[in-house]
Amino acid sequence: MNFTGAHILSIQQFDRGDIQRIFAVADSMEPYALRHKVTRVLEGAILGNMFFEPSTRTRVSFGSAFNLLGGNVRETTGFESTSITKGESLFDTARVLSGYSDVICMRHPHSGSVAEFAEGSRVPVINGGDGANEHPTQALLDLYTIRKELHSQGRGIDGLRIAMIGDLKHGRTVHSLCKLLCVFDKIQLTLVSPKELAMPDYIIESLREAGHQVTITDQLTSSISHVDIAYSTRIQEERFASKEEADLYRGRFRLNQTIYTEFCEPNTVIMHPLPRDSRPEANELDNDLNANPNLAIFRQTDNGVLVRMALFALVLDVADQVDKYSRDVNWYNSLRSK
Ligand code: NCD
Repeated sequence: MNFTGAHILSIQQFDRGDIQRIFAVADSMEPYALRHKVTRVLEGAILGNMFFEPSTRTRVSFGSAFNLLGGNVRETTGFESTSITKGESLFDTARVLSGYSDVICMRHPHSGSVAEFAEGSRVPVINGGDGANEHPTQALLDLYTIRKELHSQGRGIDGLRIAMIGDLKHGRTVHSLCKLLCVFDKIQLTLVSPKELAMPDYIIESLREAGHQVTITDQLTSSISHVDIAYSTRIQEERFASKEEADLYRGRFRLNQTIYTEFCEPNTVIMHPLPRDSRPEANELDNDLNANPNLAIFRQTDNGVLVRMALFALVLDVADQVDKYSRDVNWYNSLRSK
């Protein structure tokens, strides 16, 4: 695809070559993310970061990624502080805000809302999560992490064995990740959820059409025993009619070090898009896994900055100018010394 000026709305926009391109640019961002160097390549550019749903890492890492490229960030969080509460349409809001920004990232509780917003926008729009539909940048950073983790074991993405665990019905991260895996070969997926929270049928069909082997189960321990990646997710409470309904499913699939030692292969990598629900009634990934070197959750969050920098650089067409506007850093930095 031609990245310049493009909206990033769905993971289905990308073919295998596009993904390789994004990952190559993400690799080249490492000296900047680790503060070995700074670049001013986006000096003067403005990111409109509009988050109408709770977010910690997606919102802040989009902002940090833009800052690391030398750009400025304007942020809106929640509906209360915007004219949407006065009845303004997404189209009008987009028309207005795109006059103030060079690129906009947006998260919104309704499926399809970010695409609707993009229709009114005069600048590229990046989907930071639209309801239960998609979260394309999370899928890219997840796959980028999988690629790095497997690379250290001498493996590639083709032939991957992955278990996705939890609320697969409402989890937009797993929806986008499944769609992304459709462009690779011979993937073995085990989809672990309560029956009521199963992966949508259309996604399972597209995985099978891609030639992948899909197993559907509600048993955790047997499904994590022969996988490269165990990808856990949170029960998406905000998509349920009530907290009580979400409570029915919370804590159904708990992974901790004892279960890992007993059932997983020694190299199985544990992933989660975060936030993990650490309340005792949920605790899908126990804190006792924090010492496990195969727990990749914080490598995922670090990789998110690289992937989001890459997307900004590609969409704003500066990927090959980043180094030209760079210099070494002059402050003490803890990241570099680790
Ligand atoms: C996810 C999301 O918001 O979809 N988090 C994220 O962006 N890293 C997953 C979740 O909230 O459970």
